[in-house]
Amino acid sequence: MVKAVVLGAAGGIGQPLSLLLKANPAIDELALFDIVNTPGVATDLSHIATPAVVTGFLPPNDGLKQTLTGADVVVIPAGVPRKPGMTRDDLFKINAGIVKDLATGIATHAPKAFVLVISNPVNSTVPIVAEVFKKHNVYDPKRIFGVTTLDVVRASTFVAELIGKPGSAPDVVVPVIGGHSGVTIVPLLSQSSHPLPSDISADAFAALVKRIQFGGDEVVKAKDGAGSATLSMAYAGAEFAGKILRALKGEKGIVVPSFVSLAADPAGAAALTKELGAELEFFSSNVELGAEGVVKIHPLGKITEGEAALVKAAVPELTTNIKTGTTYVLEKY
Ligand code: NAI
Repeated sequence: MVKAVVLGAAGGIGQPLSLLLKANPAIDELALFDIVNTPGVATDLSHIATPAVVTGFLPPNDGLKQTLTGADVVVIPAGVPRKPGMTRDDLFKINAGIVKDLATGIATHAPKAFVLVISNPVNSTVPIVAEVFKKHNVYDPKRIFGVTTLDVVRASTFVAELIGKPGSAPDVVVPVIGGHSGVTIVPLLSQSSHPLPSDISADAFAALVKRIQFGGDEVVKAKDGAGSATLSMAYAGAEFAGKILRALKGEKGIVVPSFVSLAADPAGAAALTKELGAELEFFSSNVELGAEGVVKIHPLGKITEGEAALVKAAVPELTTNIKTGTTYVLEKY
């Protein structure tokens, strides 16, 4: 029996994500939590003829505890999204507190669950979850994941467009490593399953990299004050959760980028740290998943000089973001 939970389930991401999880036959029980509207969302979804039994809870009557008890996988899209002109870091003040409180709930009621963090800024909220779990003596770095899948999904789509084969997007695989904000998002286009045209101009190449790094801004601008990516994020979140569920059920060899603690695989981390030339506590690299969580953190492998420069540019911001998250919890407890 597999129980999945969505915290922030009534939101722009939460609702379509819950719909996609309800459609996943690997889930037997789907519990939804938010500070508003979950009874309605849960009742609506409960009429869909798929196996998952859906329940919805609000904070009163120990709602968070009821939601989380027995959870195997917890996805967190709770928190405020960006408006035009905002960076993901601008969200920290509000979202840090929300994520800290929800992480406390998970550490208390479902300490063994896999935690999938969508709430931004991911580079800081994942360290927050880790620190809260440490405080509760239930920290297992193999089980906490920052969801960077939307960057991967965007890279597939944009590369497929650029090579003139938009229909091939589902088959295009581009590792996107680093973190999940601006310059910390590093697409390794030289490792794309579908090579770029050899005569691509430097400008077109730079524009592609920038589009992958700042694709979220395109959506924020187009929504014009009504939020950030929700539908594409729900798709990406469901993709990642689907892979986690397959790994949980024993499938081997699933490899996907995710922002994880390097403590999850010390040997892999040592190789990666050497490549990075910097000590980072968290990083998104290709990660092999297993029934216990992270099995192996893959090295970057062969990258170009240009990609090495992007990685170098990402490190200082990542370091700051990670410290911001960690310090927040250390100062609050
Ligand atoms: P939204 O405002 O539409 O939904 C957020 C939901 O969280 C609301 O329903 C709200 O009631 C709920 N919420 C607030 N405080 C809560 C609490 N303490 N407990 C439970 N639920 C709570 O926002 P949206 O668009 O769904 O975005 C959610 C988050 O996801 C934002 O932080 C956004 O920046 C992030 N995001 C992450 C992406 C990624 O690639 N990792 C991509 C896009 C957005």
